[in-house]
Amino acid sequence: MLPTNRNRPQPRASRSWSFSEMDFSDPKRKPRLLSKILMGTFLTAMCIVMLIQSPCHSSPSVFSIHEPGVTHVLVTGGAGYIGSHAALRLLKDSYRVTIVDNLSRGNIGAIKALQNLFPEPGRLQFIYADLGDAKTVNRIFAENAFDAVMHFAAVAYVGESTLEPLRYYHNITSNTLVVLEAMAAHGVKTLIYSSTCATYGEPEKMPITEETPQVPINPYGKAKKMAEDIILDFSTRSNMAVMILRYFNVIGSDPEGRFGEAPRPELREHGRISGACFDAALGIIPGLKVKGTDYETPDGTCIRDYIDVTDLVDAHVKALDKAEPGKVGIYNVGTGKGRSVKEFVEACKKATGVDIKVDYFPRRPGDYAEVYSDPTKIKRELNWTAQRTDLLESLQTAWRWQKSHRSGYGPPLAMVL
Ligand SMILES: NC(=O)c1ccc[n+]([C@@H]2O[C@H](COP(=O)([O-])OP(=O)(O)OC[C@H]3O[C@@H](n4cnc5c(N)ncnc54)[C@H](O)[C@@H]3O)[C@@H](O)[C@H]2O)c1
Repeated sequence: MLPTNRNRPQPRASRSWSFSEMDFSDPKRKPRLLSKILMGTFLTAMCIVMLIQSPCHSSPSVFSIHEPGVTHVLVTGGAGYIGSHAALRLLKDSYRVTIVDNLSRGNIGAIKALQNLFPEPGRLQFIYADLGDAKTVNRIFAENAFDAVMHFAAVAYVGESTLEPLRYYHNITSNTLVVLEAMAAHGVKTLIYSSTCATYGEPEKMPITEETPQVPINPYGKAKKMAEDIILDFSTRSNMAVMILRYFNVIGSDPEGRFGEAPRPELREHGRISGACFDAALGIIPGLKVKGTDYETPDGTCIRDYIDVTDLVDAHVKALDKAEPGKVGIYNVGTGKGRSVKEFVEACKKATGVDIKVDYFPRRPGDYAEVYSDPTKIKRELNWTAQRTDLLESLQTAWRWQKSHRSGYGPPLAMVL
């Protein structure tokens, strides 16, 4: 099945499908011939469906109309880990949702799961597009009546950012500019921006408040800080309602087991600690590589503040609810409690029941010793506090999803065919 809204007309931008990532047929092998024929048939059928759904043949999409009482949120990066959980929560809360994602890192399976849960017309549409393509982004905004944007889409690995800095500045900083310009051009007045504690760098004082100086020490943090600066500069001259949320380390997954974190295999080496723990527990990787045991922390390993994704998306909904024209809110989203990597690994062993092998290595460039939040401001102003603060419970939930989704959101499309 394709991830478009089958029953609804789609905006033109949604027609720029690429199937290259799904088509892995090998021309040298005969048994793959059938799958190639089926794929060809499938693509032809899709072209016909898309033609039928073109604006010449259909009435305007409900997504292009502002409907009283309905808030239409553009979720960029909604096929990704946090974006898919946010879309789920918004849909559950009766928002209208458009997801824009280039699937570079997200999962079409997450979109499919959302569409299965919310198949009714006018609830959810998916637009396959790259936010670096300003023309397409502009067209998406012209063809849809968005009330607000939650901008999640980004490349988001600290280690990778040190290896490919330009990619990070382009994808994070300049794509945010593209989104902001489109919002300005089309009168979309509310922005909830996904920022990160990486913008603080390595502060001298813990916990981190929103006033802690931002001195990022890696391209990921720098690119996010630049994006924040662009948003702040623009907001002084506009009536936009802006909420900048600086997340700490996100873990966990949908408690009902429908969504989870499923990074592409090639990103595993840059991946986050929870993904690596689960991969080790599943035997996908031989063990865990803990990088850095000589930090100035009680057990020598890094300390982080782990926030459950369900709490995080709750903060987004509260931020959206409280966003006010002409005002900017900047909030840390964390639990306020730091946990060491060693503690995390122990919790992961307990959650998975596997005695994961751990090897210790020198520090990773761009990492900082200790990071945890002061969540006072978000509690005071948005009435938000982290509810899921039991590391073990969050990991057990995520582990249930990992165990039942060993290949992420499922086999590639060609396998299904
Ligand atoms: N995961 C964390 O611990 C964490 C912590 C702090 C901040 N954040 C921020 O949260 C946001 C979401 O992170 P995530 O963990 O869900 O990452 P993710 O990789 O799972 O999701 C990102 C999504 O954005 C999409 N995307 C990337 N570039 C795009 C482009 N040019 N055009 C369209 N779509 C594009 C990807 O395909 C993917 O679906 C990011 O902005 C990230 O910086 C994440």
